[in-house]
Amino acid sequence: MRTQVAIIGAGPSGLLLGQLLHKHGIDNVILERQTGEYVLERVRAGVIEQVTMDLLDEAGVGVRMHEDGLLHEGVQICVNGVRHRISFKDMTGKSVMVYGQTEITKDLMDGRAAVGAPTIYAAYDVSLHGILSDTPHVTFRADGKVQQIECDFIAGCDGFHGVSRKSAPHAAIVTHERVYPLGWLGILTDTPPVSEELIYVRHPLGFALCSMRTPTRSRYYLQCSLAEDIESWPDERFWEELKPRLDEEARDRLVTGPSIEKSIAPLRSFVAEPMRFGRLFLAGDAAHIVPPTGAKGLNLAASDVRYLSQALIEYYAEKSEAGLKHYSDRALARIWKAERFSWWMTMLLHRISEDPFDQKIQLAELDYLFRSKAAATVFAENYVGLPY
Ligand code: APR
Ligand code: PHB
Repeated sequence: MRTQVAIIGAGPSGLLLGQLLHKHGIDNVILERQTGEYVLERVRAGVIEQVTMDLLDEAGVGVRMHEDGLLHEGVQICVNGVRHRISFKDMTGKSVMVYGQTEITKDLMDGRAAVGAPTIYAAYDVSLHGILSDTPHVTFRADGKVQQIECDFIAGCDGFHGVSRKSAPHAAIVTHERVYPLGWLGILTDTPPVSEELIYVRHPLGFALCSMRTPTRSRYYLQCSLAEDIESWPDERFWEELKPRLDEEARDRLVTGPSIEKSIAPLRSFVAEPMRFGRLFLAGDAAHIVPPTGAKGLNLAASDVRYLSQALIEYYAEKSEAGLKHYSDRALARIWKAERFSWWMTMLLHRISEDPFDQKIQLAELDYLFRSKAAATVFAENYVGLPY
């Protein structure tokens, strides 16, 4: 088999890249370790920036998002039972869209099926070869046979645990990491959201987030310890721990119900540099992770894909390597800003330190955020997404 770009991973990064390349006549094959059903069952992020919406439109997969997605013009932050609102519209003129990553993945999969571009699911033992040569290739096992794809480029879109980053020469890669001593316990329920806008909650008992997917489906998170066992969190316990962290109005409006999904995710900041090794380009979670507090994971994956697809389109159309040369630097400049914002929001809202000094500093910083127009503007600009 031969293709122009071999894409490893059928998450949002790989699927979106495949769709944009296909639109410009660039052949690509996606290799995915899991089945399509498994990929669609993962419940993940839910907030997308305007620039991500624009890219999904450009890829021709934005129709359902505009029909079903919820535009949010602001966000609420509740500190010790008192709620404050930050208006994105007033501060930046922009909004964000609340639309689940699961739905985006489905739209991308349907879009790919509609144009007949190939995805090989249940592709095992994917292995990258010759990335520093002009003739890279990928081997894998599918349908019980070892197969090979020759290509011009390999796009490593296989997430944090994928094989692509591990295939980079060890001496050429630098990684930066911060592991936070906490996780998020999340549940999805078919109950109406507690508010029209997301509520980020800072409370002495710990962080909480009230989010949503639709007007009848809510997503809630609670800060938990890393050692937490999901079995010890029956739904009743979740609601009991959430309630005291909310303000009175939210508590009154809270409708509880059985969870339809429940999971724990650790919080981590991670960046691998650079993002190009010869003919291998990393994109999305394969190269970086942000804690979910800033809602940036999916948006960063989309911005990598935007830079990479433009560079590849330019290469095939004009035989110019300029975009490919600059890919890593351009992507990383944006990534580090989102890393800073996600780290800052995480430190601002969680119960991390038991030291009263740290807690007082947190409260002083939050007070400044609510009082200062400049601080609120910086927050809003980062949340809705910095320009490219
Ligand atoms: N071979 C083939 N596929 C693989 C391999 C492998 N060795 N390892 C991982 N994969 C697949 C995974 O099964 C997954 O479907 O790569 C895909 C990577 O998808 P994501 O982890 O969703 O990463 P990405 O597409 O970059 O999306 C980033 O998704 O995970 C969220 O928070 C993240 O919102 C962010 C966005
Ligand atoms: C979500 O709805 O899953 C969500 C929203 C905002 C975040 C993180 C997750 O910051």
